[in-house]
Amino acid sequence: MLKKISKKFEVAFFEVEPWEQDYLKQRLKNFSLKFFCEPIEEVPLKNLQNVSVISPFIYSKINQKILQDLPAVKLITTRSTGFDHIDIKAATQAKVKVTNVPFYGENTVAEHAFALILSISRNIHRSHERTMRGDFRLDDLQGFDLKAKTIGIIGGGHIGQHVARMAHGFEMNVLVYDPFPNKALAKKLHFQYVTLENLLKKSDVITLHAPYNKKTHHLINLKNIKLIKPGAILINTARGQLADTTALVEALRKGILIGMGLDVLEAEKYVFKEERELVSPQFTGNPRQDKEWLKTIVEQHVLINSDRVVITPHNAFNSKEALQRILDTTIANIIAWSQNKKLANQVIIK
Ligand code: NAI
Repeated sequence: MLKKISKKFEVAFFEVEPWEQDYLKQRLKNFSLKFFCEPIEEVPLKNLQNVSVISPFIYSKINQKILQDLPAVKLITTRSTGFDHIDIKAATQAKVKVTNVPFYGENTVAEHAFALILSISRNIHRSHERTMRGDFRLDDLQGFDLKAKTIGIIGGGHIGQHVARMAHGFEMNVLVYDPFPNKALAKKLHFQYVTLENLLKKSDVITLHAPYNKKTHHLINLKNIKLIKPGAILINTARGQLADTTALVEALRKGILIGMGLDVLEAEKYVFKEERELVSPQFTGNPRQDKEWLKTIVEQHVLINSDRVVITPHNAFNSKEALQRILDTTIANIIAWSQNKKLANQVIIK
């Protein structure tokens, strides 16, 4: 029965690696699958007119125009937790359902956040770079203990809670800022809820785990970096736009922050663009926006070039186990939709 119904459905995957294609082919045999390594913007859409399901990763911006160009699409199933690359309002208006993968990487991303914290606190990146050159001196490599220090977690959701557990294991004091506190959870995981201001004032390690949306845009900004405890470090494995790049550069320059671990950057999408592409009139098509982006890209390079900053290329999610969980959930999302079942992972904006 399923075979008969689902055969009709064409599914297009974007930003998909060859090994993922093999996995998906094996498990979605009753669907007609199309695979693209590129983000959706770089794919000609005219051959995708019968596609009912699109599955992007985070660099495919799904907006009203894309939905108009693909009128047969009925489901967007992003292979990520974050869905800020999808215009949910436009999708709702077009009667297109959206699902995500809400739970694949809570421990995975939290482990990466801790890898960044320890890199900075013990100067691992700078030590490694030196010993590779045969330089085994200790000068300027002194780190600091995590034990008895305070960690401030911004966003106490799935990932933030794992960070809290790990931090407790390191015998740190754990503070959490979240607009939706849960007292029982705080008791169970040994943390204390505080305001954002107090978190910034008291934390030796600040780590971002909030979603990106209009309300969280530049949650860390030029105004509130003044509250940060001098000598703190900042970790961002959530989304680059949560922190104003200008503020990060300023905080580093003034010694407010002595180190950063960033898996995400505000203009990470443009890091690999050639200079000539960045100055071409087609960059974003909007001269004002171009100017702002170019400033952010230059400031981002200040961070990339600083030996006080450890940058990873948005790969906090990238463990073997997490990737398998992403694909399994995406497959379940597609099959549930094709069978007209209730979508467990539907994204609904209230
Ligand atoms: P979640 O939805 O379980 O938790 C987010 C928490 O942030 C919730 O408790 C929510 O109440 C809180 N929150 C909402 N608005 C806030 C605000 N203004 N200030 C502080 N907290 C606020 O999400 P989860 O799974 O913990 O993921 C968090 C984010 O991590 C995702 O939205 C995604 O952008 C990012 N992420 C990054 C990955 C990477 O590879 N770098 C991989 C997976 C997720």
